[in-house]
Amino acid sequence: MSAKLIDGKAMAAEIRSEVRRDVERLKAEGREVTLAVILVGDDPASAVYVRNKKKACEDAGIRSLSYELPAATEEVKLLELVEELNGRADVDGILVQLPLPAHIDEKKILWAIAPEKDVDGFHPVNVGLLSIGEPGVVSCTPAGVMELLKRSGVEIAGKEAVVVGRSNIVGKPMANLLLAANATVTVAHSKTADLGEVCRRADIIVAAVGRPRMITADFVKEGAAVIDVGINRDADTGKLCGDVDFESVSEKCGYITPVPGGVGPMTIAMLMRNCCDLAIKRK
Ligand code: GUN
Repeated sequence: MSAKLIDGKAMAAEIRSEVRRDVERLKAEGREVTLAVILVGDDPASAVYVRNKKKACEDAGIRSLSYELPAATEEVKLLELVEELNGRADVDGILVQLPLPAHIDEKKILWAIAPEKDVDGFHPVNVGLLSIGEPGVVSCTPAGVMELLKRSGVEIAGKEAVVVGRSNIVGKPMANLLLAANATVTVAHSKTADLGEVCRRADIIVAAVGRPRMITADFVKEGAAVIDVGINRDADTGKLCGDVDFESVSEKCGYITPVPGGVGPMTIAMLMRNCCDLAIKRK
């Protein structure tokens, strides 16, 4: 491998210890940082995510309030809980784990969370603030990618950045963050006519498509920074793999993130960062 490996696990640990310091400082002022985590139903993957988030809270000294509701919970009941948490002075962040059961309108729930407690950055107010370059809450995964780039010393201003994927949670906020950092940004997606041609001009590629090993070496310019947001299961081996064909791409690019151990750990670290920042802002 000729590329420099970006160690997301180590950088996430660094961020978590920075957050821990800030949380302790707030605690010394009599202010306990608190995250409310809501899980509806019994989706096993969601249960694992929620458990990891609560563990990260504990590790950072953040108090977590856990609400585990049955799958049959009525939408209006969930709305009432969100409203109650919006009004509580001791709650800094509210996280509703997705996906929600089919009978609940996800948008209605996410849009009911007070923007100043929206730790995921999914509320349209926070999405809008990001798009006009004003401070707000930024979605954790793209915020984590920016930290990885900055802490690795990857230059962004004036560079060509290609984001592959246009989801509301990753692709779109990612493009806005890179734009705010003065990159020239292209967003590619499933209907892009010649993805290879678009990717080959990139100094920075962020792959967030959810297709195992789709980005191969022939998509990548020599020396580019390649950030892999994908978390996929290899159909043959059952092992985790990204959207980037690590083996071939790492021989050609300048920087690369592994899967696992790249972007993944950063997402939870940035969730802790966001929660602590919300507490600081509300203080
Ligand atoms: N489900 C999958 N990813 C996420 C996330 O980042 N936040 C929430 N709330 N739910 C998710």
